[in-house]
Amino acid sequence: MTVRPLHVLGSPVLREHAKPVKTVDDDVRQLVEDLFETMRAAKGVGLAANQIGVARRVAVVDVGDEDPPPLALINPMIVERSEEEETAEEGCLSIPDIFGDVERSARIVVEALDGSGKRFRVEAKGYKARAIQHEIDHLDGILFLDHLSAVKRNLLLSKWKKSRKGQKGYLKEVTPEPAGEL
Ligand code: NI
Repeated sequence: MTVRPLHVLGSPVLREHAKPVKTVDDDVRQLVEDLFETMRAAKGVGLAANQIGVARRVAVVDVGDEDPPPLALINPMIVERSEEEETAEEGCLSIPDIFGDVERSARIVVEALDGSGKRFRVEAKGYKARAIQHEIDHLDGILFLDHLSAVKRNLLLSKWKKSRKGQKGYLKEVTPEPAGEL
């Protein structure tokens, strides 16, 4: 397992529509392991492959509850969502120190492949449902900022640009982050 550098806002791969996995092979299982390792090192609760520079439809989520266990999602698809939505603050490991309130479905049902290529379904509510929606967005090249009003987004973008002053490139070696970022 390897902790990989994170791609941050500005890296083109974050805007790519990730490609479906055709076969769940050792490469894909390695990618899942690296995602878990990198997510935990960065103290995140979820991570999508785009965020470590790989445009394939693979993501992991671990919001810390025991049942069901941490999720590896390969080719995930939301097959059901509640009409009810909830608004809560989100961050993103690819946009460090920037937070905004995002409206998401309160409950979802997701279908995906597991590490052995078997299809499974999982229902999620609340924070876990939020984390899964955030990660699937990543696989479609969507960032939480895209869900905000233009005014709010521009405000956060200028804050981001200020915080980036003097930094070159769009790779960030993983150092501990505040807990709770997606
Ligand atoms: Ni994110």
